[in-house]
Amino acid sequence: MAVRKTIEVVPRARRTLTSLRNLGYDLRHAVADIVDNSVSADATTIDVTVHFAGTHSWIRIADNGHGMSPAQLTEAFRYGSDREYTRTELGRFGFGLKSASTSQCRKLTVVSRADTPDATLAARQLDLNHIDQADKWEIFDLTPDELPEPARSALGEASGTVVLWEDLDHVLQYQDPFGGWAKRQLIACAEDVDEHLGMVFHRFLAGEVADRRPLRITVNDTRVEAWDPFCRSEASTTALHQEDLEVHSRYGNGIVHLSPFVLPHQNQFSSPTAWKRASGPKNWNRQQGFYIYRANRLIQSGGWCRVRALDEHVKLARVSLDFFPELDNAFGINVAKASVTLPEDLRDALNPRVSTWCRAADAAYRQKQPSQSAPPRRPRPSRTAPTPQAPTPTTASGVTGPGRKDTPNIRPTTPSPPLANPRVPAAISQLPETAPLRTRQALEAAAAQAGETEGLIRIVSALRAMSPEVARDLGW
Ligand SMILES: Nc1ncnc2c1ncn2[C@@H]1O[C@H](COP(=O)(O)OP(=O)(O)OP(=O)(O)O)[C@@H](O)[C@H]1O
Ligand SMILES: [Mg+2]
Repeated sequence: MAVRKTIEVVPRARRTLTSLRNLGYDLRHAVADIVDNSVSADATTIDVTVHFAGTHSWIRIADNGHGMSPAQLTEAFRYGSDREYTRTELGRFGFGLKSASTSQCRKLTVVSRADTPDATLAARQLDLNHIDQADKWEIFDLTPDELPEPARSALGEASGTVVLWEDLDHVLQYQDPFGGWAKRQLIACAEDVDEHLGMVFHRFLAGEVADRRPLRITVNDTRVEAWDPFCRSEASTTALHQEDLEVHSRYGNGIVHLSPFVLPHQNQFSSPTAWKRASGPKNWNRQQGFYIYRANRLIQSGGWCRVRALDEHVKLARVSLDFFPELDNAFGINVAKASVTLPEDLRDALNPRVSTWCRAADAAYRQKQPSQSAPPRRPRPSRTAPTPQAPTPTTASGVTGPGRKDTPNIRPTTPSPPLANPRVPAAISQLPETAPLRTRQALEAAAAQAGETEGLIRIVSALRAMSPEVARDLGW
């Protein structure tokens, strides 16, 4: 076969870099993307510093990870840098360091020392002013003397990496960059970053990730606290049944792990402070729903991913959904790693489950408290939860039928081990009993006992089609 003639068309540095500054990062996501790299480099300590000095303000992320050799550091500055990833690593595109940094600043300096004997310190700098001028993909190789002071002072004698952002043109946009408003804005930014990192990396911070030592992150010398969306330390939190679903798609195959929780009613929280803290950055209503983790790092917090609408009555429902990078394409993960799209068939599989979890959350929400004087409610069999299961999760089941061609095909897989303290939702047993409700609860409990919840889900869908009025009577 004849060799076809090719012409290499190299992107224009100036224009390409300008567009790559707008990939959808805000400051919190940008810092989290840099922290991803530190976590992947096995850092146990990451110090974030946000320093206000008008136009000379800077942000620095310093870690004690395994660092980079001079050659690796140069490669790290390449857009689409080349490397292999292990399954638990957070990187994927070879973009984050550059794209997250330039989304916030015009000058990125990275200083690193590898954890090898006789490793030397290396420093590189990407300066957008230089790119604008030269219109070339060039970075500076800095000597120790040329290091900006905040970069020099952060790295000790051991291995690690310091990322320094200067000329924060996308962070500080005030006319008077030295003024009080600008200063307050930067302080608020630091608080946002602190809260965001506490949420996104909460499993790492709490030492819950297998084969890893607990991570310590500080923001301006204050230790970041892990924020557990599921309030597992609250005695009244209810852990519902966990299960694993297999996703098969032309975009990749893998397991999705589900852990649903119903948080306690406000009156059952250990303290008003704990209740307030549990409300989360977006507040109770918008924090209900899925918490989607990729390799233990939280990508999306709250919202039902179009499975259902947000609803005050089910705000106590929060569900962790875990996947690993083999499903990145199926979940449509983007460079900023700030959101995902659920594969269609997974969404179908989640639909009945979400209804069940939300019924339990609704019951907890409506639980009559001694201090409350809410008017009596009519029984609402259709919103009640199934009869609670035994404390250990039942065999995972759950099928949405054969997968469509070219779309992910979901099927249940082996059950997961029980959570530390699964609990029966107290509210459920307090619901008014009606004959159809009793029948339905008995059927749901029996199906769960027999490990046939999914079979029942299929039966219910057939019943809805064949005898909708009977299904309705039973509250399905
Ligand atoms: N703090 C760090 N410690 C050690 N190596 C690092 C550090 N930061 C970046 N690197 C190296 O630089 C490479 C490029 O980082 P970059 O964030 O641009 O891409 P990535 O992490 O590979 O993928 P993604 O675009 O998904 O973030 C990384 O793959 C890693 O090898
Ligand atoms: Mg990265």
